[in-house]
Amino acid sequence: MEENIIPHNFKINKEKRASLKNHKSVLLWFTGLSGSGKSTIANAVEQKLYTNKIHTYTLDGDNVRKGLNNDLSFAPEDRTENIRRIAETASLFIDAGIVVLAAFVSPYKKDRESVRKTVKDVNFVEIFIDTPIEECEKRDVKGLYKKARKGLIKDFTGINAPYEAPENPDIRIDTTETTIDEAVDNIIKKIQPKLEL
Ligand code: ADX
Repeated sequence: MEENIIPHNFKINKEKRASLKNHKSVLLWFTGLSGSGKSTIANAVEQKLYTNKIHTYTLDGDNVRKGLNNDLSFAPEDRTENIRRIAETASLFIDAGIVVLAAFVSPYKKDRESVRKTVKDVNFVEIFIDTPIEECEKRDVKGLYKKARKGLIKDFTGINAPYEAPENPDIRIDTTETTIDEAVDNIIKKIQPKLEL
């Protein structure tokens, strides 16, 4: 099937879209435990980018697991498929000239590495939101840790499913030592050169 799919050569390409928007596009991939603060920090970074006139879009569990991926569970093979589809979606957004912020637990190293390959290394920034499980469980914003401890959720990351922490993330944020404003400044400083045309 695939050999019969021949791409059309569109006249408006990624470079042209980037020059119209006046910046390059990248994928900011936030990984960490549930309740670690991925979405909160991604949201604060997006606000800052918006005021800097950067075109953005956020992908997270709320807009992806309820729609595109609403057929997927939290079993290992479904998590892998979740991340694969998100990477392909992010890749389209990058081609469209948009800076993508993706906040997903993404517990498996091999899945995060395939995201890096799908969107190409230069476009990928891995941001590890490093919040210890004890802290996530203490916050328990969604009440899911309590449920998981009671045995009401199977395959819950950090309780009865693994989280493989990144060994060499591009950026690591220790939320027990860093304020949101500091985290945002740190991330913006590091990605600024990647956005310049
Ligand atoms: S991932 O592992 O496939 O990347 P994803 O980021 O999409 O996970 O979804 C994680 C969110 O779904 C968590 O923040 C939590 O709110 C919710 N959730 C529900 N069940 C689970 C589970 N078994 N493990 C982890 N998160 C879960």
